Amino acid sequence: MTAETGQPALDERIVVTATINGDERSWLSSSRDSLLEALRERLALTGSKEGCNNGNCGACSVILDGRLVNSCLVMAAEVEGATITTVEGLADPESLHPLQTAFLENAALQCGICTPGFLVASKALLDENTAPTEEEIRFWLAGNLCRCTGYDKIIRAVQQAAEDLRAGDRHALAGAHHADSGTIESNTAIEGE
Ligand code: FES
Ligand code: FES
Repeated sequence: MTAETGQPALDERIVVTATINGDERSWLSSSRDSLLEALRERLALTGSKEGCNNGNCGACSVILDGRLVNSCLVMAAEVEGATITTVEGLADPESLHPLQTAFLENAALQCGICTPGFLVASKALLDENTAPTEEEIRFWLAGNLCRCTGYDKIIRAVQQAAEDLRAGDRHALAGAHHADSGTIESNTAIEGE
């Protein structure tokens, strides 16, 4: 800390603690580190990519306390106590996230440098809007640049994932109703005995 400002000195080492993909992580950071550098170099979470390092390409997108951000523009020291989702947090051990499946099925990636950012940005969109129009998807993803796919396949993949997630919610709801009626039937059977 500098006595004048109370802020960390430029090259000071600081311990930062944040919840990343559901796990509490603490790491030693330089006060100069961006969040992207901390993720990649201190925490070995190399899914977030460095494209431009100046906020223009979206390859480094992460969700920080519910907001989509470019991690190259966030200082690591700023995320103390925050909740962060990176691309590594999308899949679960058993299955890919529906967005990842849809990107594969629609061939929505080529070199893949932009892909983690598109996936995270798309997740942030579908968290807010379960049925986005094509225009809304294109507008939302305007901050993510891809030089390979021409965007149409990416848009189709996001539309498919949105449909799959909605269908999954409907099935989950139907399953819950069945489970409820099963409980009632078995209660009824017991009462009738
Ligand atoms: S690397 Fe962060 S926006 Fe390009
Ligand atoms: S797949 Fe190569 S930049 Fe998007």
